[in-house]
Amino acid sequence: MGNAPFFYICKNLFVKEITITLIDRKGKRHLLKAPADVSMNLMELCKSYEFPIQGICGGMTMCASCQIYIHSENSIKEINDDERAMLSEAFFVKENSRLCCQIQINKELDGLVFELAPE
Ligand code: FES
Repeated sequence: MGNAPFFYICKNLFVKEITITLIDRKGKRHLLKAPADVSMNLMELCKSYEFPIQGICGGMTMCASCQIYIHSENSIKEINDDERAMLSEAFFVKENSRLCCQIQINKELDGLVFELAPE
C-alpha cells in the first residue's frame, strides 16, 4: 500500500493507457483499456479481450474478416489502397467501415467508439 503512489506515478509515466468503446454484434457496449505506446492494432486488442473477430489473414489486408464501423470522430490514419481494395470486395460495407487490423493504437484513439461488423 505504501508503494502505491510510486507505482501509480511510474505507471502514468511509462504506460499511456487509453479507453476505447467496442459495440458487439448484439449492440452491447464494452469499455476496453489499451496501452497506447506499444505496437498493437485494434484487431489484436479485440482478440486480447476475446471478442469474436476472425482476422483470418493475420493483418495482411487479404480477408476483411476484421471489418469494423467507426462511430467517433477520432483522428485515424487514412485508409490506404490495399485496405480500400479489400473493403470494395467485402460484405456489409458502410461509409464508416475500416479493417481494424490496419489501425494502430495510439493516444489519438482515446475515446474511440467502434462496432464489430457482421460475420
Ligand atoms: S485480418 Fe485480414 S484484413 Fe484484417
